[in-house]
Amino acid sequence: MTRLAIIGGTGLAEMSGLDHIEKHHIDTPFGAPSSPLMEGEIKGNQVIFLPRHGEHHTIAPHRINYRANIWALRALGVTDIIAVAAVGGISKTLVPGSLVCPDQIIDYTYSREQSLFSDDFSAHKHIDFTYPYTQDLRQKVITAGHALNVEIIDGGVYGATQGPRLETAAEIIRMQQDGCSIVGMTGMPEAALVREAQINYACCALVVNWAAGLSDGLITMDAIEQTLASGMTEVKSLLAQLIVQ
Ligand code: HPA
Repeated sequence: MTRLAIIGGTGLAEMSGLDHIEKHHIDTPFGAPSSPLMEGEIKGNQVIFLPRHGEHHTIAPHRINYRANIWALRALGVTDIIAVAAVGGISKTLVPGSLVCPDQIIDYTYSREQSLFSDDFSAHKHIDFTYPYTQDLRQKVITAGHALNVEIIDGGVYGATQGPRLETAAEIIRMQQDGCSIVGMTGMPEAALVREAQINYACCALVVNWAAGLSDGLITMDAIEQTLASGMTEVKSLLAQLIVQ
């Protein structure tokens, strides 16, 4: 049986439309997750919600306890995770407001705990990570978009940076040369931990700004927040569709 969870990112700290909420306070070997896990129903369908940055968005990307989050979701028997992320656009076509369902990742993060098995390692715990996202689950995101007539770009390379600062223009040029289409701060190690936990994973990324150096002027939080407000409304409809389809 599928048990779906949504990890909310910037702009999605709560899940509207979630009824009959039960809060799970889960203690893990890695400490506490970003918040209690909220289990509820959307139109009669069970879903678990976890805001990655905490209920009040106080946890910076490099401080998120990714291991506790994924361990806790697994403890609740989650089989599928949709990760929502606000990202910068690198590819020319990915204008702010675009929705992307990436199919690859390049990891530029450092000093983050990378494995659920760090203290209990053995050779057979190396995971295959050729395709970091689950194709069937990605397809469900794309299908939900089609059903709503919402355009979702199918595929792209998510470049995961350390943050919390945004990138320099030179870093973005390097990422462009590497083949990144979008840039965000939370894609890793989340995706790898999810694979270790043997949970299906897809990402719904909302482009909220042009990456550094790709627009005239600097990146402002005001502009990001405006794009977030309208874009997350679309993301929420998409999630609601995906949950019922
Ligand atoms: N860079 C990294 N993370 C982000 C960005 C960005 O430009 N926009 C939103 N999250």
